[in-house]
Amino acid sequence: MIDVAKVQKGLKAKIFGRKVYAFDSIDSTNNCARALAGNDCPEGSVVVAEYQTAGKGRLGRIWIADAGENLTFSTILRPKISPEGLNLLPLVAAVAVARGVTKTTGMKPDCKWPNDLLVGGKKFCGILLEGVSHDNGFDYVIAGIGINVNQSVFPPDLHERATSLRAASGHPINREDLLRSILEYFEELYLLGKKEEFRTIPEIWLTHSTMIGKGVEVESEGTVFSGRASGIAPDGALILTTASGTRSVYAGDVTLHPLDHQSAPHATDN
Ligand code: BTN
Repeated sequence: MIDVAKVQKGLKAKIFGRKVYAFDSIDSTNNCARALAGNDCPEGSVVVAEYQTAGKGRLGRIWIADAGENLTFSTILRPKISPEGLNLLPLVAAVAVARGVTKTTGMKPDCKWPNDLLVGGKKFCGILLEGVSHDNGFDYVIAGIGINVNQSVFPPDLHERATSLRAASGHPINREDLLRSILEYFEELYLLGKKEEFRTIPEIWLTHSTMIGKGVEVESEGTVFSGRASGIAPDGALILTTASGTRSVYAGDVTLHPLDHQSAPHATDN
């Protein structure tokens, strides 16, 4: 079980992680955080679980992670942001994870739009944001983060695409240190973002990604777009240069073109 006292010991964040609800087993930390947020639980509160029986991934998928080896947690956010701004929050969370991983392990993860982080070209972290909104803003947003930390065995269908920080580095990783560090960076970036309406977030995210300039295929709402990833728009969309012009994509699954992918520098060498 995650030792909450260890996470909070020396925690520099003022609101993130000040309240932590820890569970051995739960359906989904996002579901629990939603219920808490609906009952006025303060911003920055965290729900963490050793195991999720119904962990949720993006696009209706499931998120499976072995008990006791990983980090699955959700943070309650109450951003003053328009519904269109919601696409910037996963970028905030991704940069916080990237920085936390670098501080704790020395590795430099590669952010992959929209919500993934990779090491050595394989995914070790996924992010799921769920917002509850009213007319022109959000009551709250739940930022759910799943990180493969020390897991060493993956289901055969994921083996080629998934990894953990331990598998990539060859060392076991202290989960409390990692969580503390991510919460600190998350708060710092989120408060900075709130001050300037998240304007500088795309720029910051780009410094943690090698994706721009590469050939990609994006599957978005049943259509596949092929082109070159040429930037991140101020609203968090991926800008894609295709044979028929430039387009912004707001959601979807990205596949890096195999040749570009292989010739990309190893994520830990950035
Ligand atoms: C994805 O890559 O599809 C996103 C995965 C998000 C998983 C995390 S684990 C903690 C939180 N609770 C959930 O049910 N999902 C998110």
